[in-house]
Amino acid sequence: MNRKTLIAPSVLSADFSRLGEEVEDIVGAGADWVHLDVMDGHFVPNITFGPQVIKSIRNRTEAIFDCHLMIAPADDYLGAFADAGCDFITVHAEAGAHLDRSLQTIRNLGKKAGVSLNPSTAETVIEYVLDRLDLVLLMTVNPGFGGQAFIPSVVEKTRRLKALIGNRPIHIEIDGGVTPETAPLVAAAGADVLVAGSAIFRGNGKVAYAHNIAAIRSAADNARQYEAA
Ligand code: DX5
Ligand code: ZN
Repeated sequence: MNRKTLIAPSVLSADFSRLGEEVEDIVGAGADWVHLDVMDGHFVPNITFGPQVIKSIRNRTEAIFDCHLMIAPADDYLGAFADAGCDFITVHAEAGAHLDRSLQTIRNLGKKAGVSLNPSTAETVIEYVLDRLDLVLLMTVNPGFGGQAFIPSVVEKTRRLKALIGNRPIHIEIDGGVTPETAPLVAAAGADVLVAGSAIFRGNGKVAYAHNIAAIRSAADNARQYEAA
C-alpha cells in the first residue's frame, strides 16, 4: 500500500445548506477522498442523507466518493448508491447477516467494496472475506455522531488487522475522533486512510480547511516514516 496517508474529510461536519461549495472547498484544500456518512436512524441513532443528495454533489469534484453506509439493511440500497456515483461503498459487518453477499454485490456493481467494524467488533470477522475487500474501516467512536472522543483500544486492533491483511492491497481506514494528536497512533499501527469531520471543518472555508488537513496529514506521515525507519 502507498506510504502516503490519504485524508478523507467527512461532510457530516460541513454546512449542509452549502454542501456543494463545502465539497469543492475541501478538495481544493487538499482532501484526497470525500467521506459520506449515510445514517438511517435505525442502525445508528441519527439520520443524515441518501443517494439523491450524493448524486446532487457528484458533479462538484472528481475526487473519490467514499460512502460509509450506517444503514440496516444495506443490500437493497447498494445499487442506488452505486448509481449516485460512489466509488467505495462500505457496509457495516454488524448491519446484516450476509457480509459475503453484500461485498459481492458491491463488486458486481463495479465499485470498491469496504466493510466497517464498530469498536466492539473483533477484526477477525473479515478473515473469510479478505479476497472480496478493497477497504476495512475501523470505527474509533461508536457510529452516529461527529465530535466524539477517540477510543484508544482500536489502536491495537489496527495493528492486528494490519497483520491479518498482510500484503494484500486493502486500505485500512480510521473513522472517529481523528486529530493531529490521534492520527500518529493509528498511522503507526498501519492505517493509510484517515477520516476526520470536526477536526477539518473548523474555521471558515478553504484556507482553514487546508491548514487542518495538512496538520493531520503531516502528523500521520511522520508517524509512518518513523515506523518504517
Ligand atoms: C461517525 C461518522 C464519522 C464522523 C467523524 O459515525 O462515521 O465519519 O463524521 O467525525 P469526527 O471526525 O468529528 O469524529
Ligand atoms: Zn464515517
